[in-house]
Amino acid sequence: MKFEYQNPTRLVFGAGSLNQLGEIAGELGKKALIVTGGGSVKKNGTFDKAVSSLKAAGVAMAECSGVEPNPRIATVRRGAEIARKEGCDIIIALGGGSAMDASKVMAAAVYYDGDPWDMIFHGQPDPYFPTKALPIITVPTLAATGSEMNCGAVITNEESSEKSFVQAPCLFPSVAIVDPELTVSVPKDQTAYGVCDIITHITEGYFNSADNAPVQDRFAEGAILTAMECGQKAIADGTDLDARTHVQYASIVALNGWIQSGISAGFPVHMIEHTVSAFHDVTHAAGLAVINPAWMRFAAKSNTAKFVQFGERIFGVKAKGADDLDAAMEGIDRFEEFLKSIGCPTRFSELGIDEKLIEKYAQETLRIIYDEDGNLPGLPPMSEADIIGVLR
Ligand code: NZQ
Ligand code: ZN
Repeated sequence: MKFEYQNPTRLVFGAGSLNQLGEIAGELGKKALIVTGGGSVKKNGTFDKAVSSLKAAGVAMAECSGVEPNPRIATVRRGAEIARKEGCDIIIALGGGSAMDASKVMAAAVYYDGDPWDMIFHGQPDPYFPTKALPIITVPTLAATGSEMNCGAVITNEESSEKSFVQAPCLFPSVAIVDPELTVSVPKDQTAYGVCDIITHITEGYFNSADNAPVQDRFAEGAILTAMECGQKAIADGTDLDARTHVQYASIVALNGWIQSGISAGFPVHMIEHTVSAFHDVTHAAGLAVINPAWMRFAAKSNTAKFVQFGERIFGVKAKGADDLDAAMEGIDRFEEFLKSIGCPTRFSELGIDEKLIEKYAQETLRIIYDEDGNLPGLPPMSEADIIGVLR
């Protein structure tokens, strides 16, 4: 195992940490663009608290509200324009993964005269790879994506029905202010989807690595078990701050690179889901809940030992040996039951998605990302027929 790891984001974690926003923003700039979603932060008082904290610290503000779930490139263009016009020197993302991702690309777009879509990876050499961005502060209001402490962003192009990502070191937030109190208003369904997203970020690394990585494995299993246990509590009682706190920390470690260090992880389930939500605008993790168990059943046939380990360590499934495919499949069944029990869909029909488009999803996924043999990276790599099989 060989790796380098660097994550420059300063993490300020804990209930009440939103109060530090003004002081921290004042260290980074003079005028902030506050980026928000469709209005939840205004309804639940988070926006007012953020504004008071900034005012108290003498930080001026401009606003870009209305970032949609599955954030669109048109919104990114609009936000970057506001930031330029208003002379903002810092961006504050106050919301879920959508507001955070849009903010990151706005922060880089301020320094780029071309179209921000040029930064998003979409199957050909990128016209522009961002190297400079305004400082970003992320203040997540939903535990799911881990965008608060990573350098990725996922954006949809509504005109071409494409959804894809950019990952660049300049997009690491300068500071992540993670206050679990902000998540107590998240409804049950979004809480459940968040738990599914967290677990899927972890399983993508866990199952797609050919390397022996016992520290990462145990770390991954601990974070999965915590997300499941505390996730169920947070869904049962949204005001359970203790449960919300641990789910939120799990969301950070699931995708800030620690678990992925040293393992050559592909993200096949995410890559397929991004295509599906580009066509259907479904909630990201609702799509994952359908695709991940189906993908697991496909991958377990060749990577049986790892799925046996998953079943044993997460669900206590007894196996006859490392090649016990029945035990591997039982672990996957138990995982799918868990997803159902928290209210996630596990079939496309529940999302109103038409089976007729399955071939198109497979082709579109492979148009965006492929290895030297034209397959989707992962363990095992997936051909077009494999993707179609999983989706069916
Ligand atoms: O838009 P508002 O009104 O804020 O409401 C949102 C939205 O309807 C609501 N919400 C958020 N915080 C709330 C709340 N409602 C009540 N109380 C609160 N405290 O929840 C809904 C979903 O919000 P969204 O930001 O879309 O959700 P999420 O955090 O799951 O982000 C999803 C996006 O992130 C991308 C996904 O593809 C998707 O576009 N991802 C980003 C990643 C990254 N940057 O690393 C990795 C992920 O795998 C993922 O692909
Ligand atoms: Zn995800």
